[in-house]
Amino acid sequence: MKRNTAVARLALLLIRHVSVAGADAGSQCCNALSQEASLKDKVYYPDTADYQGRVESIWSVSAALAPWCFVLPQSAEDTAVIIQTLVRNDCSFGILGHGHGDFPASNSIKEGVTIDFGHMNQTTYDPTEKIASIGPGSSWQPVYENLEPHGVTVTGGRAGGVGVAGFTTGGGNSFHSTSHGWACDNVKNFQLVLADGTIVDANADENNDLWQALKGGSGNFGLVTRFDMYVIEFPDPKKPNIWGGIAQYELSAADDLTDAYVDFVENNYQDKNSSTMLYWVYTHSTQSLIVQVAMDNTLDIEYPPVYDRYLNTSGLIKTSLRSAPMYEITAEFDLGQPDGLRNIWLTGAYKNDPRVIKFAADKHEELIAGKLAGLVSEDSQLVTLCSMFPLTQAMIAHGNANGGNSMNLEAKSQGENGLLFLASLAIGGAENEAIALPIMRQWQDEVDAYATSLGVNWDWRFLNYAYAGQDPIATYATDKIIAASKKYDPGMVFQRLRSTGHRIVS
Ligand SMILES: Cc1cc2nc3c(=O)[nH]c(=O)nc-3n(C[C@H](O)[C@H](O)[C@H](O)COP(=O)(O)OP(=O)(O)OC[C@H]3O[C@@H](n4cnc5c(N)ncnc54)[C@H](O)[C@@H]3O)c2cc1C
Ligand SMILES: *[C@@H]1O[C@H](CO)[C@@H](O)[C@H](O)[C@H]1NC(C)=O
Ligand SMILES: *[C@@H]1O[C@H](CO)[C@@H](O)[C@H](O)[C@H]1NC(C)=O
Ligand SMILES: *[C@@H]1O[C@H](CO)[C@@H](O)[C@H](O)[C@H]1NC(C)=O
Repeated sequence: MKRNTAVARLALLLIRHVSVAGADAGSQCCNALSQEASLKDKVYYPDTADYQGRVESIWSVSAALAPWCFVLPQSAEDTAVIIQTLVRNDCSFGILGHGHGDFPASNSIKEGVTIDFGHMNQTTYDPTEKIASIGPGSSWQPVYENLEPHGVTVTGGRAGGVGVAGFTTGGGNSFHSTSHGWACDNVKNFQLVLADGTIVDANADENNDLWQALKGGSGNFGLVTRFDMYVIEFPDPKKPNIWGGIAQYELSAADDLTDAYVDFVENNYQDKNSSTMLYWVYTHSTQSLIVQVAMDNTLDIEYPPVYDRYLNTSGLIKTSLRSAPMYEITAEFDLGQPDGLRNIWLTGAYKNDPRVIKFAADKHEELIAGKLAGLVSEDSQLVTLCSMFPLTQAMIAHGNANGGNSMNLEAKSQGENGLLFLASLAIGGAENEAIALPIMRQWQDEVDAYATSLGVNWDWRFLNYAYAGQDPIATYATDKIIAASKKYDPGMVFQRLRSTGHRIVS
């Protein structure tokens, strides 16, 4: 097959290449950066407070690898000097946006230089063009807060702490997904620095193939230095509110909520401004397993009728449903995600079928009572989530309507609504993490196998939720991605020297 030949050729080239490693290479690479006049004071070395601060900025302890040095550009021009210097010296590197990737080598790198966008975190707004320009190192929370006085927002994360760059180049699903599409479908223009140091724009008119490939293709083509995004106006520009929050239920409500969720997804096209999530949360310290439903309406309509079925379900413990500024609701989502732990996220995508949801939730319960409970120590701070997100046709249709992305869902979904499944775990301690990983993988594999047996497995992996080795790019529109890689990165710098994130050749 065409794609397989292209991948095989890329892989061969990678095998032939042996890159420099070890302490000598480390000092060579970091010194070369420090010697560039424009990068003076922008290289952080081990055993300094600045360096330690950058390691600690990374969300998942699993990913917080200590590099030879961090280099923090302040502009696209700095970024161009950095990539040219690294390529000239054959240095391995990682790309750190805002550090919310979960697995080891998501962002930072051990044997190499971490290019850290933490200082490029500004948001500016052009009210004439209605475009927000956002730096790659920002999280969504300050973006929302900056845009709110203008009466507008963007399709960013539900959790305000999540990073802009990884989220957007990897797709990005949110409150606005059904009404406006993935975050990447709302990017008018990416400014990026290619492997040879050229600064280019990728949009509908310029480098259109690169623009499409970047919508889902992550860090495979260059270093994105600015996202120009279309904004969304709040219904009342003086009141940046949405309606929503989280409802908590007793476990006994799970089956009814599952049916209500599936029904919601099938009917979402009738109320595209409402969105949901269904998730089971287990907390080891309190031995509690509950079911939660997120309900939101971006037009700030209170209790839209699509939520009746959820709200009529018995077993409701409490809700935080209210009309509030969007940035308050996004700040609340952070609370559900523990900080300072090791994280494992695994994902799959299936037809919107209640049998798969129930199977995944039953397996989750079995793990909690069985393997995980038996193997993980008392003080492990274990939290596990079994989460379901809609992949609606209305949402998928925005891809082509907005110029095309590289995620390939039009083909994979075959006109049906889907289920995005996320199995996630947070835990303290490297030993505990090592015990948990094969258990989590087995859970995910069993859900996949069950969905396959029902004929409802889409064989698609969402990059932003995929673990190392889940190889999301292989499930995307690889022809687009490989063609863009060959054209814009002919030396394969982002396959061979970039050692983090999801690559074309995994
Ligand atoms: C608490 C939490 C909540 C989340 N909620 C959602 C959600 O609601 N919806 C959703 O879709 N995802 C969600 N995610 C997943 C999230 O989108 C990914 O973790 C994403 O990678 C985070 O972006 P980042 O910049 O922080 O990532 P980083 O870990 O810094 O980067 C991840 C990868 O992105 C690429 N990258 C980063 N910066 C650049 C750049 N400047 N140029 C080119 N490539 C770059 C690189 O390949 C890098 O390896 C959530 C994650 C967490 C931890
Ligand atoms: C941007 O980064 C700087 C330095 O890391 C930090 O002080 C500032 O608060 C950040 N600003 C935003 C908008 O995130
Ligand atoms: C959803 O909101 C958009 C505006 O953002 C509006 O045009 C559309 O009609 C709304 N759809 C429904 C079903 O309410
Ligand atoms: C929910 O309950 C209300 C009041 O009991 C009822 O009017 C409504 O029809 C119910 N809705 C659904 C979807 O079950």
